[in-house]
Amino acid sequence: ARIAVLVSGRGSNLQALIDAQANGRLPGRIVVVGSNKPDCAALDRATAAGIDTFALRQRDFADREAMDAALDAELRRHSPGLVVLAGFMRILSPTMVAGWPGRMLNIHPSLLPKYPGLDTHARALAAGDSEHGASVHYVIPELDAGPVIAQVRIPVLAGDTPDALAQRLLLREHALMVAAIALVAAGDVQLTPAGIQFSGATL
Ligand code: GRF
Repeated sequence: ARIAVLVSGRGSNLQALIDAQANGRLPGRIVVVGSNKPDCAALDRATAAGIDTFALRQRDFADREAMDAALDAELRRHSPGLVVLAGFMRILSPTMVAGWPGRMLNIHPSLLPKYPGLDTHARALAAGDSEHGASVHYVIPELDAGPVIAQVRIPVLAGDTPDALAQRLLLREHALMVAAIALVAAGDVQLTPAGIQFSGATL
């Protein structure tokens, strides 16, 4: 599959995908990396790997819809089969999301449906959870609410801070992200009107 990745930050999940591709563990190719933050480290990682990049800033557009239309057009120039949100900190408009049914994935640092939105690590600690984790899910217009493809769980340790928990989880997110994308890119997981369907030889 041709894979597009959208990023906003440090890009450690993107790096995991780049490394997986280099090692032949990704049934697909990253064809473009786009960002809403022109200076983010993730774009540098893409450039270093020889991947096409683009960046758009909200302040150059009249409104959210106009920027999403430009973002969508940039993505479509590269004809991706799959769009992966890897630390992309922008809420996409329902119109844009609707254009990629079953073809847009996001990684979220919580055991969804727990803790959609921000500050997931602090919220898990404040709730006294004994477990925390991350989820890769299909993107639907409602934030962090799409069908979950795969999750990773880690124990919460005594004395954990939000940062410590986030760091420990991040290491596991990378493998989760690669595994979930590999399933979808290989066609072993599909989103159908009846929900997620798992099939195929690699399972
Ligand atoms: C990760 O924790 C991811 O789950 C969340 O944003 C963070 C991105 O980190 N959506 P990175 O930019 O991939 O390093």
